[in-house]
Amino acid sequence: MSVLKTPNAETIAEAAAMIRGGDLVAFPTETVYGLGANALDGQAVARIYEAKGRPSFNPLIAHFCDVAQMQDYIALPDRAKEWFDMLAHHIWPGPLTLIVPRAEGCEISELATAGLETVAVRIPAHPVARDLIKQAGVPIVAPSANLSGTISPTTPAHVAEGLGDKVGMILAGGACTVGLESTVVDLSEEKPVILRPGAVIKEQMEELLNTEIFYIIQNKGEKDAGGDNGEAAEAVKAPGMLLKHYAPSIPVRLNAVDLEPGEALLAFGSDKFMGIKGGGAAKDLPEEQRRNLSEEGDLNEAAANLFAMMRALDKPENKGIAVMSIPDEGLGVAINDRLRRAAQK
Ligand code: TXA
Ligand code: MG
Repeated sequence: MSVLKTPNAETIAEAAAMIRGGDLVAFPTETVYGLGANALDGQAVARIYEAKGRPSFNPLIAHFCDVAQMQDYIALPDRAKEWFDMLAHHIWPGPLTLIVPRAEGCEISELATAGLETVAVRIPAHPVARDLIKQAGVPIVAPSANLSGTISPTTPAHVAEGLGDKVGMILAGGACTVGLESTVVDLSEEKPVILRPGAVIKEQMEELLNTEIFYIIQNKGEKDAGGDNGEAAEAVKAPGMLLKHYAPSIPVRLNAVDLEPGEALLAFGSDKFMGIKGGGAAKDLPEEQRRNLSEEGDLNEAAANLFAMMRALDKPENKGIAVMSIPDEGLGVAINDRLRRAAQK
């Protein structure tokens, strides 16, 4: 029996009831598909970790339908409140996650926040996601709806492939428009810090907050997204920065200027002059071996295509995936971040 359902008033109501009842529902957001559970129900949250094979030290994002719904769960110190209000006002609903202190008596499952004093909150822009949260009447924790360590899902088919037998329902709302996970910003410290780059870029937030924002550099526990490597304490500040995280099963080679025989090409911009070592041109490769993130060199288009194209090329027939270079500015920072993880051995 297929768990894929077209979102409409009836199926969303059904999904909301499943969430309240402790089941898992996969749903579309503008970034990637989420695997949702009632954030207040520890057992439901445990099902997420089990279904994904996710290490329990890696906390989840709680999704809300509006800021009012967050009030009982978060406690903002004065300065963070200013930052929070500004970002919330200008960017939500949208692809931004904020890390803020948990309120006293916050009823979000401690498993969801991995025992931290903070909680990650986001208001997604996708109408199906917001409807679902509103109707469920509870915050919904949702990691990306993929097996831990594999490529995040941007279509319902991707979700079904990895988790089809582990979810109560998949609300099939088409392809995700952003295509990369939300930008994660920590507001719980002296200065706002980006823990994970995404579609909301550093410069945009610096302008809004009128302050410099830094990226956190993660270099501990980096090869071990899939299992507990005993470095949870260090890893936890930016657990999503575990380096090998978005990995295809074949090797990924970055900044390629030509192809090794047997490699597939993930192009950006024109690949007209790309050659294959030993003879031949990339442009003559068969469809299975060649994708272009954006022929026009458009970073938004490239972000939206990235995960689906990596999946399409991730076939045992291909020896590896050679990726052309992508400018490291604006949204390119987030794209290169995901590519570096995919290339990590
Ligand atoms: O776009 C997205 O953010 C998607 C959609 C479904 O909303 N969700 C997503 O969730 O990407 P996930 O679980 O794959 O990534 C959540 C990231 C992880 O890097 C996690 O470590 C970090 O947020 N995170 C969650 N709570 C945190 C906390 N309290 N402190 C620091 N990092 C936290
Ligand atoms: Mg994920």
